[in-house]
Amino acid sequence: MEGLLENRVALVTGGGSGIGRATAMRFHNDGAKVVVVDRNEKAAIEVAETICSSGGDAIAVVADVSCEKDVEKMVTAAVERYGALHAASNNAAYSSGFKELTAWTVEEWDKIQDVTLKGVWLCMKYQLPAIEQAGGGAIVNIASVGGVRGEAKMAPYSSAKGGVIALTKTAAAEYAQRGIRINAVAPGGVRTPSIEHYFKILPQEKDATIATHAMRRLGEPEELANAVSYLLSDRASFITGHVLNVDGGILVNPHNL
Ligand SMILES: NC(=O)c1ccc[n+]([C@@H]2O[C@H](COP(=O)([O-])OP(=O)(O)OC[C@H]3O[C@@H](n4cnc5c(N)ncnc54)[C@H](O)[C@@H]3O)[C@@H](O)[C@H]2O)c1
Repeated sequence: MEGLLENRVALVTGGGSGIGRATAMRFHNDGAKVVVVDRNEKAAIEVAETICSSGGDAIAVVADVSCEKDVEKMVTAAVERYGALHAASNNAAYSSGFKELTAWTVEEWDKIQDVTLKGVWLCMKYQLPAIEQAGGGAIVNIASVGGVRGEAKMAPYSSAKGGVIALTKTAAAEYAQRGIRINAVAPGGVRTPSIEHYFKILPQEKDATIATHAMRRLGEPEELANAVSYLLSDRASFITGHVLNVDGGILVNPHNL
């Protein structure tokens, strides 16, 4: 799959950890110049430096995707450094805890929506004109199986991810004739720091979570990054407004139906 993103400038939010980190490395291995965005400065720099030290070209940009000024600055930094933006994966998201729908507070609801849904909209608001200016390209937003089918005890997060899917389809419709394809990837359980943290708090959930996957295992961040890179590449040239479930078969597991 080497070279899928040759001569492209590709940005990933939440690029400092997990799926975002694997995506930044995939972008590099596929030939792109990489813009690693994270609110965690140390993590973003570590990933950009890893790419540069293995012969690639990357910059780290510190930004909180829920802050409009930061998002504008992030796109400006990419264009100033590399002259254009062609591809983006809007991957940063936030959730906290697990409780029934009636137990969430308005503050918790707003914070989760702010990063997970509004953040994706803000990113596209500034990425789309830059990508159009560059002559076209593609965006992949990271949703979740929880946004496709709902997720008990995660009302704010699963609604935000459902919103990401609707937003992806809306953007795809608006930009289909303007040279920009917009798709979503919906991960199942993926072995990243956030799911490891979840299993630390609720160890009894580990086996049950794995069992929801028809393949009886979690995904690796690299397996998600492969799907993102494919959808951003010209190999996916007739695909837009699609939600690709990369979920080890959660949605076809007869035990979940
Ligand atoms: N890991 C899973 O099982 C799983 C399942 C379904 C969906 N997802 C989705 O995949 C994406 C990546 O998840 P992950 O498990 O790799 O997460 P992770 O926790 O390993 O990494 C997330 C990164 O995003 C950064 N980030 C968080 N809030 C930010 C903000 N406001 N602005 C900028 N950066 C911010 C964090 O600093 C971190 O580096 C998320 O959208 C998540 O909802 C993950």
